[in-house]
Amino acid sequence: MHVLVLNGPNLGRLGSREPEVYGSVTHDELVEQCLLWGGELGLEVEVRQTDDEAELVQWLHEASDTAAPVVLNPAAFTHYSYAVRDACAQLTSTLVEVHLTNPAAREEFRHTSVISAVATGTIAGFGAGSYRLALRAIADSERR
Ligand code: DQA
Repeated sequence: MHVLVLNGPNLGRLGSREPEVYGSVTHDELVEQCLLWGGELGLEVEVRQTDDEAELVQWLHEASDTAAPVVLNPAAFTHYSYAVRDACAQLTSTLVEVHLTNPAAREEFRHTSVISAVATGTIAGFGAGSYRLALRAIADSERR
C-alpha cells in the first residue's frame, strides 16, 4: 500500500528550526525514519515537504485521485488554510493529521485546527514518534 506523508511549511528546516521546540531531528532524518517504520508495517511510504500551499493542495488532489492514505502535518496551514481543509475533505482513504508538538499546549492561535474535522484522526505531541503512530494507525485502519 502506497502512503503519502506530506509536510507543510517550515518543516524542511527541522533540526535548525527552534530546536528547543521541535527537537534536533532533521527533515532528512524524519524521512529516513518514516521509510523504515513504513517498511516494518508493510507500507510503501513516500515523504514530501513543501512551503507552498498550492503544491500541498495539488498533492492532496493526487491522493484523492489515487485513493492513497495520507499522513499530513499541515504545519502553520493547520490553523487557517481552508484550501488545505477543502482538499482534505475530498480524500476517500484514511487521513491522519500529525504534529510534532502538542498545539493545544502552545500559543492560543495554535489551538484551532481547521483540518481536524475532516481528518480520520489526529496524533500530536510525540515528536517524530507522532509519524510512527500515524503510520501504525494507517496500517491498522486500511487492513480492517
Ligand atoms: C506543527 C505545529 C504548528 O502549530 C506549527 O505551525 C508547525 C509545526 C507541529 O508539528 O508541531 O509548523 O504542525
